[in-house]
Amino acid sequence: MGYAQVYGQWQQDPEGFWLSAAGGIDWVTPPTRALDDSRAPLYEWFTGATVNTCWNAVDRHVIAGRGKQPAIIHDSPVTATRHVITYAELQDRVARLAGALKAKGIAKGDRVIIYMPMVPEALEAMLACARLGAIHSVVFGGFAANELAVRIDDCTPKAIIAASCGIEPTRVVHYKPLVDAAIDMADHKPDFCVIFQREQEVAKLTPGRDVAWHEFQYGVTPADCVPVEGNHPAYILYTSGTTGAPKGVVRPTAGHLVALNWTMRAIYNVGHGDVFWAASDVGWVVGHSYICYGPLIAGCTTVVYEGKPVGTPDAAAFWRVIAEHRVKSFFTAPTALRAIKREDPDGKLVPGLPDLQALYLAGERADPDTIHWAQTHLKVPVIDHWWQTETGYAIAANPLGIEHLPVKIGSPTVAMPGYDVQVLDEGGHPVSPGTLGAIAIRLPLPPGTLPTLWNAEDRFCKSYLNHFPGYYETGDAGYIDTDGYLYIMARTDDVINVAGHRLSTGAMEEVLAAHRDVAECAVIGVADDLKGQSPLGFLCLNKGAGRDPADVVRECVALMRDKIGPVADFKRAVVVDRLPKTRSGKILRGTMVKIADGQLRSMGLAKA
Ligand code: COA
Ligand code: AMP
Repeated sequence: MGYAQVYGQWQQDPEGFWLSAAGGIDWVTPPTRALDDSRAPLYEWFTGATVNTCWNAVDRHVIAGRGKQPAIIHDSPVTATRHVITYAELQDRVARLAGALKAKGIAKGDRVIIYMPMVPEALEAMLACARLGAIHSVVFGGFAANELAVRIDDCTPKAIIAASCGIEPTRVVHYKPLVDAAIDMADHKPDFCVIFQREQEVAKLTPGRDVAWHEFQYGVTPADCVPVEGNHPAYILYTSGTTGAPKGVVRPTAGHLVALNWTMRAIYNVGHGDVFWAASDVGWVVGHSYICYGPLIAGCTTVVYEGKPVGTPDAAAFWRVIAEHRVKSFFTAPTALRAIKREDPDGKLVPGLPDLQALYLAGERADPDTIHWAQTHLKVPVIDHWWQTETGYAIAANPLGIEHLPVKIGSPTVAMPGYDVQVLDEGGHPVSPGTLGAIAIRLPLPPGTLPTLWNAEDRFCKSYLNHFPGYYETGDAGYIDTDGYLYIMARTDDVINVAGHRLSTGAMEEVLAAHRDVAECAVIGVADDLKGQSPLGFLCLNKGAGRDPADVVRECVALMRDKIGPVADFKRAVVVDRLPKTRSGKILRGTMVKIADGQLRSMGLAKA
């Protein structure tokens, strides 16, 4: 059956489509109904069923006789180590960790924050929470203590699981002091912290609050999987929106299992025993869906890579990992390929990769040069696909496991089953093919997508549902061509995308505005050849401040690193007399972007 037929099947009978996909999951109580529309326009899926995520990602593979198959390959050039964990070992490790968490009072519905680098223990912590029905919230290691504190206060975790440190190529990231500072800053205090001590840096534990990863598991009874309702939150993942406060995207358990399992075959064309690698970080949605849950639910081997595309040690690092671990499907962000291409423009470091079947790109717009480079040197299909933290998996893709559709460079191809994608004008009416507009998805969204924001239903409605009644507003603008191919052109809000990382210029402006000499400010994303976009700050200083502008800029750069973290990558700001505004006083950020892009280029200042 080809794509058109599969999509048509879904269109004709969406419930039947997803109930059939639900057959790929082990249920405690199987679903009899798929969609729950009793609170429309708020929708939920598989509410009557009960299930456990960890069972489906781990235990069922052991029961099926695949216990000896590698579940996780940890490949860490920054520590010069490699380590394989089989499904049987993973089951044992996760059940023990869950047992220790349970003994300290963690139960179904409790929140647990996870703040860890790219080590298998990060996945084990996620799975241990899932085993107990506890709701995890993973925070990316590049965020500062302040951002961690905001998340602690929003999801009020009973526990924090962290590593002593992370390792960046040029420095050790001291995770534990960041955790301590965040807890000091937050109003909510967790009952306890579990610290995974790494040999590169052993952290000082706070007596009475902190326990060490290994010691606290000693002698515990391993925990069984706790069944949860289909709409029980599997996790909360914070993402950037228009304002400074991050949005807690809620991921519902059953839909997540059903949809991810479906994507592994239909989009990524992998199954039991295949090696799948997403070179992202567990702190992002790609890491949740395609480093941890998706590959494990589908019984694949997942690669956890602790390194960079370049510099660990060189631009051949990705190809070494693919060759050595026989990766079949590989997923990364275009920015990573641009970094490699810059160091190896002629692809001299790319060896033959006989096991590689396809390269998948997402997280930002894939530029034609990068796609061409990858097609030429990897000699496999290069598949751009479009999705968001909110959806958890691809809205549009080229579904290799169903049919390899003709590639149109610049387009992430076509809508996946579950998604009725429309381009709307400002009045909410669908526009004709080729016309630019706001990209929206007709409700209901498919299983696994966000049903709401954590403790913020009003904000959920305001952010996504109210603007175009009957639709989910994606925040992206673009068009659909006459063949139904989608083109994603820009964000319609204040979100920018820096090296595949989603950041809020609103949040950055809040940080700058807090500087005592800054009267007014704006942050825009300017085009960057490597990172896609790069933040640029404009500062109007208080009259009579009498400060050297260069000093204020330096302080603002430091402030941003301190408040949001190195991930903001905020390195450039300029002091100006005035900001361009409309008559009503709205800052013309769009115009500023155009001027800045043009001027930086003509002045040779566009970062290469
Ligand atoms: N913990 C702590 N700090 C981190 C971090 C982490 N997990 N990840 C990144 N940082 C820091 C970096 O050390 C850097 O700090 P610096 O300003 O002191 O140098 C800063 O955050 C910016 O990092 P990064 O965006 O990684 O930029 P870079 O210049 O070091 O590397 C790339 C450029 C293109 C190689 C890199 O951005 C990259 O690999 N991007 C791919 C991103 C990706 O896979 N995204 C997936 C989303 S789907
Ligand atoms: P995130 O929530 O971090 O995954 O970021 C989602 C946003 O990244 C989307 O709303 C888009 O703006 C952008 N994005 C993701 N994938 C693509 C893609 N394939 N093409 C263009 N933009 C993309």
